[in-house]
Amino acid sequence: MSTSNETNSKIEPPLSTTLLKSLRVLLEDEPDTIANLANASAFIFEHLSKVNWVGFYLLKEETLVLGPFQGKPACVRIQNGKGVCGTATKADKTYVVPNVHEFPGHIACDAASKSEIVIPLHANGAVVGCLDIDSPEYDRFSQADREWLEEAGKIIEQAIKNDVFWKELN
Ligand code: SME
Repeated sequence: MSTSNETNSKIEPPLSTTLLKSLRVLLEDEPDTIANLANASAFIFEHLSKVNWVGFYLLKEETLVLGPFQGKPACVRIQNGKGVCGTATKADKTYVVPNVHEFPGHIACDAASKSEIVIPLHANGAVVGCLDIDSPEYDRFSQADREWLEEAGKIIEQAIKNDVFWKELN
């Protein structure tokens, strides 16, 4: 019988390193945050199996506002501290939710979503939003997925820091 890591993750260690390099190359020469978040969501959506939504929420004062994404149209505004996104962003911690139906206050944007991972993103020492990924399968996100996605989050944070206009966007 396979372990959950083997069955749940398409990303194997050698591939993950290559993919992270590709993500870095995709973002590093472009200073525009919206363009980089759009490409980052498309890149992750393309390379992760069994996901139905990949995207960003950006913190504007105490509200998370929908950013670039791949998947079905989603809720535009989430109060910081609410839902999985707001909980993870406010706590400044990655949340892996194996069953969204058991998460108190989960906000259902796509009825197909069954599990979710949310990774807070930072710039200039502050949380600026989050990367949110939904799966139509329960318990989709393994520890290996989490580690890979947190590394992807660091690359995305670097891209945000490279945007000289980022402060004006907020
Ligand atoms: N499920 C999220 C809302 C965003 S969608 O999944 C795209 C939440 O509970 O915060």
